[in-house]
Amino acid sequence: MGSRLIGYGSYLPEKIMTNHDFERIMDTTDEWIVQRTGMHERHFAADGEEVVDMAAVAARRALDNAGIGIDDIDMVICATTSPELDFPSVGVQVLGRLGASKNQPAFDVRGACTGYIYALHCARGFFAAGMHRRIMLIGAEKMTRFIDFNDRSTAVLFGDGAGAMIFEHSSSGYSGIIDTVVMADGREFDMLHGTPDHKIAMNGPETYKKAVTLMPDAAQYIMEHAGITADNVDWIVPHQANLRIIHSGAGRLGFPLEKILVTVDKHANTSGASGVLALSYALDNGIIKKGQLILYPAFGSGLTWGAALIRM
Ligand code: ACO
Repeated sequence: MGSRLIGYGSYLPEKIMTNHDFERIMDTTDEWIVQRTGMHERHFAADGEEVVDMAAVAARRALDNAGIGIDDIDMVICATTSPELDFPSVGVQVLGRLGASKNQPAFDVRGACTGYIYALHCARGFFAAGMHRRIMLIGAEKMTRFIDFNDRSTAVLFGDGAGAMIFEHSSSGYSGIIDTVVMADGREFDMLHGTPDHKIAMNGPETYKKAVTLMPDAAQYIMEHAGITADNVDWIVPHQANLRIIHSGAGRLGFPLEKILVTVDKHANTSGASGVLALSYALDNGIIKKGQLILYPAFGSGLTWGAALIRM
């Protein structure tokens, strides 16, 4: 048993923080940020605007897009690492915000930037087991919660936002979430992690080196497993961490520039929201079209990494 995508939605906070805005508050330049990361701007949540607020708007838009209500959803899985509250989960809070009354299950997945691939992996398993009919998958982050404006090497890299996708079970194994693979190596904890005072500790150059091999490895595994090559894939949508990482990894797999979806220039790194937001945004703007085949690799803190193959 497989699945198919029946709805999507996204949300970006109103406030846009440009590289020039950073120039005014720290020792950095637009040129450095663009050259090293490909980022031009990112969205910052307003004071008091939390992960659950962004997640609920993206979820509502996905429901409207699918033409269904929250009680038509059988499970909510939310990928997030930056919720305001330790409990309950953002998934359950979204159910509350949207007035769900069916007692459907909801939970969060904490996989940092790979969180949305872990969430897809869970959803694929539930569909394969025939356990749920419709699953809503949300990726939502307020990365500005972790930003230390005294650390220019990480402050410029992150943004806030949310995306949501709704999958419905299907008898076809060739639509929706076709395949997933997820991995983790806890021995690499020191490379990138949160600190007890809610900051980001990152060895940028080492993270970069790992990212340019792990994302293509996971993507290659998925393609081999499906018996396809880059020629058969319409778009590669890598985790939007850094334009150089995206181009290096996708190029190594044989993807031409016109098949690589890039939103990091506008959204920066939104961690667990990155891929869901990028896909919803691309569908909304007619860049990616229904029916297209998407290769979807990600990596993040843990280290964690993985990939999915999805038909829109
Ligand atoms: N503006 C200007 N100069 C800066 C800035 C800045 N914002 N930040 C760092 N620099 C300086 C450094 O101080 C250093 O100066 P020095 O040579 O005088 O010491 C110089 O730039 C080079 O610093 P590096 O860290 O070596 O720069 P690098 O080329 O590696 O680029 C970057 C840094 C962009 C962070 C890169 O390493 C990278 O993208 N790494 C991967 C990060 C990533 O993808 N993280 C994903 C997180 S996923 C998750 O789970 C959250």
